[in-house]
Amino acid sequence: MSTGSTLKSGRARAMGDRVQALCERNRQAGHAAWCGLDYDFVSPSGGTYPFQWFWDSGFHAITLSHLDPARAVAELRSLLANQQPDGFVAHVTFWQRERYQALLATYSIAYRTPYLSDCIQPPVLGESLEQVVRRGGGEQALHELLPKTRRFFDWLDRVRDPDRDGLVATLQPDESGLDHTPKYQEYLGVTRVLDAEFTAAWERVAAAWRAVGRDPARMFARAAFVVEDVLVNTIYALGEQALARLCAEAGDAAGAAEFVTRAERTRRALVEKCYDRQAGLFFDLAGHQEQMLRVNTVSSLMPLALPELPAEIAARLIAHLEDPEEYAAPYPVPSVAMNEPSYTPGVCGERMVWRGPTWMNTNWYLWRGLRAHGRPDLAERLVDRSASLVEGQGFREYYNPSSGEGHGAHDFSWTGIVLDMLAQD
Ligand code: GLC
Repeated sequence: MSTGSTLKSGRARAMGDRVQALCERNRQAGHAAWCGLDYDFVSPSGGTYPFQWFWDSGFHAITLSHLDPARAVAELRSLLANQQPDGFVAHVTFWQRERYQALLATYSIAYRTPYLSDCIQPPVLGESLEQVVRRGGGEQALHELLPKTRRFFDWLDRVRDPDRDGLVATLQPDESGLDHTPKYQEYLGVTRVLDAEFTAAWERVAAAWRAVGRDPARMFARAAFVVEDVLVNTIYALGEQALARLCAEAGDAAGAAEFVTRAERTRRALVEKCYDRQAGLFFDLAGHQEQMLRVNTVSSLMPLALPELPAEIAARLIAHLEDPEEYAAPYPVPSVAMNEPSYTPGVCGERMVWRGPTWMNTNWYLWRGLRAHGRPDLAERLVDRSASLVEGQGFREYYNPSSGEGHGAHDFSWTGIVLDMLAQD
């Protein structure tokens, strides 16, 4: 791998070297006899997460696009290699599962096949493909991977948006990528913040889904967990916008027009249905009644990443980001507002995540939003604080927003997305 020319400053180049070594350490490449295919991807973390995760890979591909465009293409090719005939792409592909039987026992995951999970993660893929194509992946990646990416977005639209409002639904908490976030707690009936309580709640949802054969139509009818999630749908809208641009580039004007319409519908639904004017925050919608889950988490700020968000709404979100009671921590941005009762800055229980610490992928989206909405000063500060976390503590899964201490997995690959922030700063 050679460090590309996007890395201009000394700080960016030094980070490029560190990220390059990280991607090397976490590289998984080989041949999978179960599907007869080769794979080449970066695992989230060698120790705890050796398989290919969907949204992690989306961030890894963006990071790799600065370092080695061919590997960035390989990352997405591997992610899409086992796309199912209906268009579905699993949130975990267990390429080398035989090597990790003991570890598998510690996951609570529903399987579509022995090698593929049966759930989704936020559709970062649309934007990842665009960045990979533009940073050296070129025409070949476009023609190879765009049709598959489109089929996945079509699957989301067809299967996960039965009320046709432009918002796709998640059917279990970890489909949002924010596994134990407090925003679902009341809806899940979790009253005590204990690992066992969450496991039991997840198991209740999984049992309800098993009872209806994991058939999406029956799952929506049963509605044991149906959430139109703000973070997921912000990423979905960004992906639809990216697909519109990529279709245009591929000469498919009709596809481009369709994705423009779809992106606009998703963006409009977010503003019309999920924005709480009084709070100046976005909230998820739960169940058939679309009940707002009014917990102030980083997800509530995510629509800032949409460049077309009305200026007055963007200003309200930025005010929350600047509020020292809520999100303006020494090492921002906390995953839960610091004045929420559930806010936990460090490790929570045995393995509960997304309950307060700062994560690099959400910082990446908010940094983009700050630039898009005329606050380069705050964007620059966020890059600086984010980079200093990695420089001081290494590539950890998440960090304490007050002390900057790193926690969770070591050598966590998506934390390398900080390179994209430094490269463009
Ligand atoms: C954790 C995160 C999830 C991520 C996975 C693999 O479960 O909550 O978002 O995809 O780890 O890194």
